[in-house]
This record gives sequence, structure tokens and C-alpha cells, in this order.
Amino acid sequence: MHAPFFIASLVALAAIASAQTKRGLPAGCDRNATVEYGDTCNAISAAHNVSTYQLAAVNSETIDSGCNNLVAGEVLCLGIKGQDCNVTHVMQAGDTCFSVADASGIQVNTLLANNPNVNTCDNVYPGEVLCTASQIYVNTTK
Ligand SMILES: *[C@@H]1O[C@H](CO)[C@@H](O)[C@H](O)[C@H]1NC(C)=O
Ligand SMILES: *[C@@H]1O[C@H](CO)[C@@H](O)[C@H](O)[C@H]1NC(C)=O
Ligand SMILES: *[C@@H]1O[C@H](CO)[C@@H](O)[C@H](O)[C@H]1NC(C)=O
Repeated sequence: MHAPFFIASLVALAAIASAQTKRGLPAGCDRNATVEYGDTCNAISAAHNVSTYQLAAVNSETIDSGCNNLVAGEVLCLGIKGQDCNVTHVMQAGDTCFSVADASGIQVNTLLANNPNVNTCDNVYPGEVLCTASQIYVNTTK
């Protein structure tokens, strides 16, 4: 690689990193994680006990709807204080909202309230992370 191009690339990368940092974390961020090269939203969610819904909702300013714009080195907020569900289940093939709620000892309605993205639960998929807490964290009055 030519040195000038290499340096230009570094400058471009630094600019991206700095833009990400400047945007900052949302107010009241409870915990955070730094994106690693090759990360996916569901991998981050599974590794940190944060639901797919919560990671997307908390970082809606930075992560696009398909989670295709993660940048290695960028810091994501994992949950907002007081609304931070950290009890989770990674969906496996064959899991349903009913089986997961049952195994977690919670009501299906609680599961649905904490994971608004699953709608009627016909769209869950292996690798998706659901909040399985018995407390409801998602503010439905928003
Ligand atoms: C991320 O969390 C750590 C503690 O785990 C904290 O020290 C750090 O300040 C947080 N980073 C940001 C940008 O808030
Ligand atoms: C995720 O939750 C499990 C089960 O409660 C716990 O053993 C694990 O330490 C948690 N991991 C993190 C990163 O909090
Ligand atoms: C979840 O959050 C609660 C309250 O902040 C904390 O006491 C607990 O240790 C956390 N559990 C895990 C698995 O991180």
C-alpha cells in the first residue's frame, strides 16, 4: 500500500472514530460496550445480557435499522438507568415466546411488553436476544 494512501486512510478512520465519540452516549447510560471488529448487534446483545430491542432502542441515533453500520471502536450504550433489563435469553431454534416465558418463570405478556419488537411473537429468530425479566422495563407511555 502507498504511504500517502495509508495515511489518508488513517486520517479518514480517525475522523469516523472522532465523529462517533463526539455523538456521545445517551443521558443516563447505565453500562456501555465498545464495538469490536466483526461484531453484530445480536453478538453484542448476547455477550452483555441486553435485549436486541433495548440495544437498538438505546442507540437509535447511531445504529441503523438493519444494524449494518457498526464501527469498530465505537462505544454503545447498553441500557438507560432505571430502564435497563439485564436478564436475557438468546433465542435457539424451536424457542417460542411461550416456551421462553415458561422457562424464565414469567408471564408471556411481560415478555411481550419488554420486547415490543417481537409483536405477536411470530417473527422471533435464533440468535435474537429477548429480555426475560419479571419486571417491565419498557416505558409504554412513550
Ligand atoms: C463505560 O463504562 C465504564 C465502566 O464500565 C466507565 O468507566 C466509562 O466511563 C463508560 N464510558 C462512557 C463513554 O461513558
Ligand atoms: C449475563 O447473565 C448471566 C446469567 O445471569 C450471568 O451469569 C453473566 O455473568 C451475565 N453476563 C454479563 C456480561 O453480565
Ligand atoms: C442486573 O442489574 C442489577 C441491578 O443493577 C444488578 O444488581 C445485577 O447484578 C445485574 N445482573 C447481571 C447478571 O448483570
